[in-house]
Amino acid sequence: MVCLVAPGADLGPILTHIDVLTVRWLSHLIESKKFSKLDPGELMTTWGVRGVDAERCTVVKLPDRADAKFMRRAGAAVGKTLGDDPVLVESTLGTGLREHLAQGMALGNYRFNRYKKEANKGDKAPDWRIMTPSPKVAQRNFEALGCAVEGTEFARDLVNEPSNVLTTTEFASRLLELQELGVEVEVLEEDDLERIGMRALLAVGQGSDSPSKVVVMNWKGSESPPLALIGKGVVFDTGGISIKPARGMEQMTMDMAGAATVAGVMKTLALGRTKASVVGIVGLVENMPSGRAQRPGDIVRSLKGDSIEVVNTDAEGRLVLADVMWYCQRRFEPVGMIDLATLTGAIIVSLGYEYCGAFSNDDKFYQRFQSAAESEDENVWRQPLSKSFDKIIDSTIADVKNVGDRWAGAITAAQFLKRFVKADIPWIHLDIAGVAWTPKPSKFSPRGASGWGVRALTRLINDHYSER
Ligand code: BES
Ligand code: MN
Ligand code: ZN
Repeated sequence: MVCLVAPGADLGPILTHIDVLTVRWLSHLIESKKFSKLDPGELMTTWGVRGVDAERCTVVKLPDRADAKFMRRAGAAVGKTLGDDPVLVESTLGTGLREHLAQGMALGNYRFNRYKKEANKGDKAPDWRIMTPSPKVAQRNFEALGCAVEGTEFARDLVNEPSNVLTTTEFASRLLELQELGVEVEVLEEDDLERIGMRALLAVGQGSDSPSKVVVMNWKGSESPPLALIGKGVVFDTGGISIKPARGMEQMTMDMAGAATVAGVMKTLALGRTKASVVGIVGLVENMPSGRAQRPGDIVRSLKGDSIEVVNTDAEGRLVLADVMWYCQRRFEPVGMIDLATLTGAIIVSLGYEYCGAFSNDDKFYQRFQSAAESEDENVWRQPLSKSFDKIIDSTIADVKNVGDRWAGAITAAQFLKRFVKADIPWIHLDIAGVAWTPKPSKFSPRGASGWGVRALTRLINDHYSER
């Protein structure tokens, strides 16, 4: 854990110093050629610095004016490189910035090592302390940022967990643990879903031995009508009968990242006792080929009543979301609805691993989200919706088909979802296929799960949907 301490506190066996400012006692180091070549935010490590009582000294180059965003990024860079070493951060920065440095350090230090024999590193929290003249205030400010770190880690752990461990049943039981924090959690089982009529969702899971489930998480921090978060939770996506090629298929263990992000936000809200009303609903299924699996060409009846021609069983996420979104609107009449899904490979073709793709039917709602994401340094880029794209998914024998043609795949997927959104409900669809799991380290996380969106959504809720 990162802890903010007063100067002169008992520091124990601190090995590494970090200095985030060009303070005088490091001047000879700072004047070196190597340091002058660094870009702001880059680190330099040296050993045996005169006047520094530490084994190792790492210096972060600051820009002329560091802000919260910069400090979070610099912290993440520090957190990624320092491993488990005890760290003391000294700095002469103005107040209000060290908290963000601390958050970045905690985000960047995340490791998923629970299956490695070697010392099970990463299980014990490193001893990291940041010196500040006002530790009480700083620690209090850090509390909210720390909740978001915990929520993000919760999401990342779920995404990184392999599919033999994180079955639909195991996923649901990890969500039930949120009850301890005051979240109401309700698990709808297959017979419930049958009775309700979520046959599009059930069709996706019917080839798997893991039972399909829908989990409703309700955080009632206020009396207002809720904001709704919907997550795609495909615990593994083989593609079903329209099976995926072997190369890269192992990555489809992350196809539940939308659901994990929703869970991460619910956890953050509960830890922060946020005065907002938010309902999170996730559809948990596994997409497998088997003698019971749905076939290409099947026609299923959705909860809304629209029939869907399943042209490709690998376009399964939208079938799950269609039913969950309709259920959510019918039961909760939310003031707004945001769905998160690792929905298409096409969004990665478009935006790579750098930006999340977004679609919305409401400019004001989207603007709010976009600026929350901007403040949290989580990249998002809006793409269009229109009648001409919608036409592409008209079916000749059903009300809609689940795939379009080759082009604009992320957009036609969004158009499919839009058919299951009531016209008067502000809605945002976030296609997180590229940002939820990255093959290389990203800004705030190592290779693997990023927890993208937990901070942006939490900020949106704090800024616009809470009483405070
Ligand atoms: N889960 C995949 C999308 C995906 C791809 C997520 C790569 C993360 C990384 C989704 O269910 C899928 O298979 N989409 C198909 C849709 C196609 C059949 C219309 C795709 O993108 O190829
Ligand atoms: Mn698929
Ligand atoms: Zn999928």
